[in-house]
Amino acid sequence: MTMMKKLHLGVAALAVSATGAIAQEVEVLHWWTSGGEAAALNVLREDLSGGGIGWTDMPVAGGGGSDAMTVLRARVTAGDPPTAVQMLGFAIQDWAAEGALANLDELAAEQGWDEVVPEALQAFSTYDGHWVAAPVNVHSTNWVWANTALMEELGIEQPTTWDEFVAAMQTAQDAGYTALAHGGQAWQDATIFDSMVMGVGGPEFYQAAMVDLDPEALGSEQMVEAFDRMATLRGFVDDNFSGRDWNLASAMVINGEALFQIMGDWAKGEFVNAGLTAGEEFQCFRVPGTEGTVTFNSDQFAMFNVDDESDQESQLAMASAVMSPEFQIAFNLVKGSAPARTDIDPSSFDACGQAAIADLAAAGESGNLFGSMAHGHANPPSIQNAMYDVITAHFNGEFDSATAAEEMVTAVELAQ
Ligand code: BGC
Repeated sequence: MTMMKKLHLGVAALAVSATGAIAQEVEVLHWWTSGGEAAALNVLREDLSGGGIGWTDMPVAGGGGSDAMTVLRARVTAGDPPTAVQMLGFAIQDWAAEGALANLDELAAEQGWDEVVPEALQAFSTYDGHWVAAPVNVHSTNWVWANTALMEELGIEQPTTWDEFVAAMQTAQDAGYTALAHGGQAWQDATIFDSMVMGVGGPEFYQAAMVDLDPEALGSEQMVEAFDRMATLRGFVDDNFSGRDWNLASAMVINGEALFQIMGDWAKGEFVNAGLTAGEEFQCFRVPGTEGTVTFNSDQFAMFNVDDESDQESQLAMASAVMSPEFQIAFNLVKGSAPARTDIDPSSFDACGQAAIADLAAAGESGNLFGSMAHGHANPPSIQNAMYDVITAHFNGEFDSATAAEEMVTAVELAQ
């Protein structure tokens, strides 16, 4: 077992400087840079500031967090890790295996995290039986976001099958709208790919291909079909999709330029931030073919081993704040995600939030809850990046679908 520094409670309640000013502070590395994300981040910042904890911001833009993880690696290599880091799934496990993360067991025991954090999240928040991260939310990624007024104008009902979904996009395109708002970035391509794999092959196939990395599943006819669906989606994006940030794609749906966006429910944060109401000006529904299943990711804060005692106290204070039920409600209402605790009353959430919370619980019970590959919860970063490369190359027309499925087999094998 690697060395994990145990953070102790009650060493010094607050570190106060000679002038009486509060000296506690956290430096937080994160990738929450869009309007909706920044609004959610402010909820956290203000919560901590209410508890006397200062904030040094270390934003690294880029959905999915690949760029943030590159910056993190450089900081740790330079011997200067940030106090707290937004992190996803297998990346938490990798850092814990390196012995870089602080042990939060004492706080977790005092606050009963074991009882309120669902097992699917604990699988990532704990390493070798020890708590190493505090989960702030659960996002589900297999959503479609739709502009209600545009659906009505075009006479489009909520599609429930892949064929209806394609027909709806065709109607929008024929009428001169962008059917699918999308940004051509590897993590966004991968986000929609998760839903194509689930939609074509269902839970068993998703498990075999994305989680178990079974070469037969990766190279199967179903995988070819998942790529075919990606090619269909590619036909419905606008000419300027390449490199566009996800929140600008959300803005196209918000502004009525585009009909749909396939994206995790952080997109809801953008709609809400623009003053729109779920179920009224915008709709959310599961990507047709994935109903009853949920692909998820959970943003967690991992605390890096630091020597300074005041920094350690700040880490505990931050972890404690993140896990409080009141904070989990306030934050997730703005972020678009569901709380990471199972004991939260969903009544203050909007229609999409309540659907997300109910879907997550139901999928968890029926065995249909799966970690999102695109967001680091199905397989380790090395495999995820190998998959990203193939998916994006195919989306940009470098491979046909049959070749892409073959490339998946090879790329995954090489990355293992
Ligand atoms: C994170 C979300 C974030 C999204 C886009 C995801 O990987 O889990 O919190 O909003 O990326 O930046």
